[in-house]
Amino acid sequence: MTEKKGKFMKVYAIAVVPGDGIGKEIIPAGLKVLQAAAKNNFHIQTDAFPWGAGFYKESGRFMPEDGLDILKKYDAIYFGSVGLPDVDDTLPAKDFTFKVRNHFRQYVNYRPVRTYPGVTRPLRTEKPIDFVVVRENNEGEFVQVGSQVVPNFPEGMGVDVSIFTRRGIERIAHYAFQLAQKRRKKVTAVTKSNTLIHSLTYWDRVIREAGSKYPDVDLERMYIDNCSANFVLHPEVFDVVLTTNLFGDILSDLGGALMGSLGLAGSGNLNPEREYPSMFEPIHGSAPDIAGKGIANPLGTVWSGAMMLDHLGESAASVRIMEAVDRVCLAGILTPDVGGRAKTNDVAEAIVEHL
Ligand code: NAI
Ligand code: MG
Repeated sequence: MTEKKGKFMKVYAIAVVPGDGIGKEIIPAGLKVLQAAAKNNFHIQTDAFPWGAGFYKESGRFMPEDGLDILKKYDAIYFGSVGLPDVDDTLPAKDFTFKVRNHFRQYVNYRPVRTYPGVTRPLRTEKPIDFVVVRENNEGEFVQVGSQVVPNFPEGMGVDVSIFTRRGIERIAHYAFQLAQKRRKKVTAVTKSNTLIHSLTYWDRVIREAGSKYPDVDLERMYIDNCSANFVLHPEVFDVVLTTNLFGDILSDLGGALMGSLGLAGSGNLNPEREYPSMFEPIHGSAPDIAGKGIANPLGTVWSGAMMLDHLGESAASVRIMEAVDRVCLAGILTPDVGGRAKTNDVAEAIVEHL
């Protein structure tokens, strides 16, 4: 706590990892908005870390050996994206993103989808879209257990194992049902148990068992293929979409597209028990095709920052940010990906003015 004008203000310590490509453009924009929202209400104290693929090119690592120990001391992590075209693209997730998500038990990947006023969407529906993809974030298809066997021979093979544990399914299911209780009381559990007959029938079963404890929440089961069609045809029917690591990765990019651009989508990697810091990041990557031009859409990053404030207990500031975002969108101050001509920084400045 620090004292200012006789009033004690809370201080939040935030580790900032801009990463690579547009990460270096959207994170400064997001921080500008966060600092403006904090003004006179609370302090955001930031330390920036230059980690990612660029750091790897210089040091041979995505983050220092004690990187996780460093991050652990913070209240939250504000992250851009990692990956560069000239660096092995199997490394960013393995050596940074998954490492943080797994070590800090951020087993919930909270990825909301909504309508931004004034932003043209690809769908003709006028109905508001407002749902959350709850993606299991620590296991499933992305455990990276497997191997390549004699890859250079005709009998070569590659194997990746998916792991679904009762504990892993239960905790994400309870999170989703409790979230639905605060929303429109519906969970759509996305699966493919008609073909993945061992792992995903177990996933279905444990979710059904968890769901029986929430009689006020409707549980609907939907196959991933049909679900992706329904995202486009009937997006208004979804409330909480509970799904696996891989399916959630794909569905949430589709969710970003439904809003009008990947650049509009934010996310939280949450450790609901708060044993470790949670990490907030836009869902997109480092977008090398537009990096360095100053035109990346910062709204997904700003939204992620608003989620971070909400997680820290500053809900009023979080709401004020999103209201300012809506006013800026309605005023047509938009980046080129959503049909505007504004630069990344113009959008951030406009949000600050509207706060
Ligand atoms: P991407 O999300 O970086 O880009 C896909 C498309 O969306 C591109 O055309 C890009 O210009 C556009 N886009 C993304 N964010 C935007 C924004 N804020 N404003 C306007 N347009 C935006 O995905 P891609 O191209 O598959 O991957 C690029 C790199 O990012 C790879 O190295 C990949 O591994 C990495 N990546 C990193 C992630 C992370 O750090 N969490 C997540 C996804 C990808
Ligand atoms: Mg993705």
